[in-house]
Amino acid sequence: MSIRPILIHPDPRLKKKTDPVTEITDALRATAHDMLDTMYDAPGIGLAGPQVGLMQRIIVMDCIKDPEAAPRPMVLINPQIVWSSESRNIHEEGCLSIPDQYADVERPAEVEVRWLSLDGAEQSEHFTGLWATCVQHEIDHLDGRLFIDYLTPLKRQLITRKMTKLKRERARM
Ligand code: NI
Repeated sequence: MSIRPILIHPDPRLKKKTDPVTEITDALRATAHDMLDTMYDAPGIGLAGPQVGLMQRIIVMDCIKDPEAAPRPMVLINPQIVWSSESRNIHEEGCLSIPDQYADVERPAEVEVRWLSLDGAEQSEHFTGLWATCVQHEIDHLDGRLFIDYLTPLKRQLITRKMTKLKRERARM
């Protein structure tokens, strides 16, 4: 188990589009497990490649919030939204790359996602509720999009300024 450092916004790697995974190697499998460890340790419910500096289309998530319930760690390689509902949902979002900042974001309430599992098998699932919000947020990361990109420029600038300050403080420690 190894915890990787999570990049904090603003960082050019968080704004870049990532490349599809072309081969599922042992190194990628190890990275995926590190990403899950990093996500649980944070703690968070989702993490995308770029957040740990990996510029490939891979996300991990587990939206089971009840500590009594069994965890459901998921690894999605090359995830694609193949269908979105017309009904929309507003959910308060946060991001491990933008610590302690939360805002309401409106997205399709339900999505159908297709991806490859770590053993290369094609998978698909219909996500609703928090899972739908989370999977869309994480796939956005793969396209260099953050949840603050849905906010007004003013709110986005305010958060970005706070993060710049936070990074400066952390660098001094
Ligand atoms: Ni995020």
